[in-house]
Parts: sequence; C-alpha cells; structure tokens
Amino acid sequence: MKTRLFEPIQLGGVTLANRIVVSPMCQYSAVDGVMGAWHRQHLGSLAVSGAAAVVIEATAVTPQGRITRGCTGLYADTQENRLREIISDIRTYSSTILGIQLGHTGRRGSIHRPWDYNFEPLWPDEGGWRTVAPSPLPFREGWPMPEVLSEAGMADILHAFEDSTRRAARLDLGLIELHGAHGYLMHQFLSPLSNQRSDAYGGTIDNRMRFPLSIVKAVRGVWPSERALGVRISATDWLDGGWNVNDSIVFTRELEKVGVDYVCVSSGGMGGLSTALTSEHLRLAEQIRGGTSVAICGVGHIYRPQQAEDALSAGQADFVALGRAFLDNPRWALHAAVALRETPPFPEQYALAAPDKWRGYAVLHDLS
Ligand SMILES: Cc1cc2nc3c(=O)[nH]c(=O)nc-3n(C[C@H](O)[C@H](O)[C@H](O)COP(=O)(O)O)c2cc1C
Repeated sequence: MKTRLFEPIQLGGVTLANRIVVSPMCQYSAVDGVMGAWHRQHLGSLAVSGAAAVVIEATAVTPQGRITRGCTGLYADTQENRLREIISDIRTYSSTILGIQLGHTGRRGSIHRPWDYNFEPLWPDEGGWRTVAPSPLPFREGWPMPEVLSEAGMADILHAFEDSTRRAARLDLGLIELHGAHGYLMHQFLSPLSNQRSDAYGGTIDNRMRFPLSIVKAVRGVWPSERALGVRISATDWLDGGWNVNDSIVFTRELEKVGVDYVCVSSGGMGGLSTALTSEHLRLAEQIRGGTSVAICGVGHIYRPQQAEDALSAGQADFVALGRAFLDNPRWALHAAVALRETPPFPEQYALAAPDKWRGYAVLHDLS
C-alpha cells in the first residue's frame, strides 16, 4: 500500500509526485540579488533529493525588500537571466517542480549575513538601506526606525510583487510561495504589534489583512492560473496581544477565497519565540487545517520519515516541507522512500549506491 507521504497531491493545476517539499532557505550568497555558483550547486543537488518540489529561498521584489546584501532578488533582468540558466541546467537531469518564495522584509531588512555579524542591523554607513514598515516601530530596541509606508509606497511594493511574478512566470517555475511569515512586511501588516495604523490598513483584523490580501490578489492576477500559489504564514506571534492561531484561520479562509492553493504554517518572527526553535508548528497546522479547506503544508522539526508519515496520516497537514534535514542530507527524500518501503527515484548516475545494489546502504542506514 502506498504511504501518505508518497501519494501525489494536487496544488491547483500542479501535481506534486509526493508530499515532500524542500523548504525555502536563504543562502546569503547572492551579489546584487543575482544567484551564483553556490546556488547552482545547492539547488542542483536538491533537485535530485527525491522531494517533489524545491522552493527557492526568500527572494526580494525590490532591493530594499532584501534581508541582507547576500539575499536574492527577482526585480532585475540579470537576476531573472541567471535563474533561467540555473533552471535550464537542472532541467537536463530533473523534472522536480521548482518554486520560489517572493517577499519583502519591511523593517527586518538591511541586516548582516549570519556569519558576518549575526543578523545585526547593517547601518547606512556600512552599505545598508532605509527600511519601511506599516508603523514607526523598530523591530527591536537599538534597531533603526523604519520609514512609515504611505499608500503610494504600498502601491509601489504591490507593483513590485506583480513585476517579480511576471518574471517568475517567464521561468520554468511551478509555484510561488509568498512570504507572509517570520515578521516580514506582510506579517508586519497582519500583527497588531507591528501595525498601529489608524487608516484603512490598521486597527481591525479586516483592515490589517487588507494590504497582504491585495498583494496576494495582485500576484494571483498575473501568475498563470494553472501554476500553484501558496502563502507562508506565522500562525502565532507567541506574544500577548499579537497575531494568533484564530486570526490565522480567518486569514487562511480569506486566502482561499482569493485563489491561494496552499498555506504553509510556520510561526514567530515578531520577537517572541523563534521560528527555528519551536516544534509546535504541526499542532498549529492541524488547528488551521481543521478550520479551513485549503491544502496545509506542515513545517518545522520534522526529522524522520515515519514522523512525516504519521503527521499526514493524523491529518495534521496535507504535505510537509523540511529545511535543515535537507541541508544535513540532500538525499533525505530518497532515504525516506527506502525507509517507508517505497521505490526511491535514485538518479541513474547514483544507482550503484541504491539499497538493492550496495550492501553499504543497509549498514549506513541501519536497515539490518
Ligand atoms: C539556513 C536557513 C534559511 C532559511 N531561510 C528561510 C527563507 O528564506 N524563507 C522562509 O520562509 N524560511 C526560511 N527558513 C526557515 C525554514 O524554511 C524552515 O521553516 C525552518 O528551518 C523549520 O524547518 P526545519 O526544522 O525542517 O529546518 C530558513 C531556515 C534555515 C535553516
């Protein structure tokens, strides 16, 4: 019998061959938003991981929307053309669905790469830029004051999302995931902790959802209807008075109405519990899945194939995304197929290392 994890799933017009996705992960290795040799090997290797889809890292729709100077962008021809070359290479050996996460950092932008100065602000005299936000509230004490977005500034950002989506549509990408999580711009509008506006974009939840929803609608309007659109959300801020799981259910229902095919449930990014540290996401995903009917992607602290299988069987999510497990082992999904007694799609070039051809496999993977 087929396991849940290796059953196909339909996201809009896109069929994922199994329910394993590589979660978007910033590599901080771009120059002027343009991917380089590191991305070629990173994405190239993940394209033979056995995962049904690989979502390319958070990619900015404007230069100011990047997290660090090493973050990728999709707002210039050079960026689009380099990504086209990388995808074209991958297509010679893999039909894995490729997706891209598009986003804008708002007040969390202009910081150092983690290995330079551990995500501390990159000040203007170090080559940083002025950040923007819904309200005049820095991300943390000691961080720069963001510029408050006017309606004209919001319209510019919305058009930048449309422009990046048009660029994505010219590439062989099957899905876009909008970054509505982790304290970045869309999340900053959603959370009452970062959005204290008194106009039509602040106050009630309907008002706070207005700008993020208008971005989603605009993207859906230019993204071909047969390609999948997802949104990553932070289900909760983990802070009193912040965005919470009930708000996320309301938001997810609205996302469904505007043509979103899946919602990926993460959390944090407002200064509360850290996104990477909590292992509560599957429980939150289950709650949101119970209150909505859009496909739900569970992510966070999934390590073992059986754990992923159990989460799907228990109805906690419709499919899963894994991050660090794929950095640790870029063949995670091939090994998951072996562990769950499915047929692993080993690339022909690696077939001699497959379990039926190599005794060492059973030894290394403790199958004896
Ligand atoms: C190096 C690294 C970079 C990340 N970059 C992103 C990103 O670009 N967009 C995003 O939504 N999450 C990002 N994340 C979070 C992961 O996508 C994932 O949600 C998180 O690591 C939890 O999943 P895991 O326990 O399987 O790693 C990143 C995580 C890591 C470790």
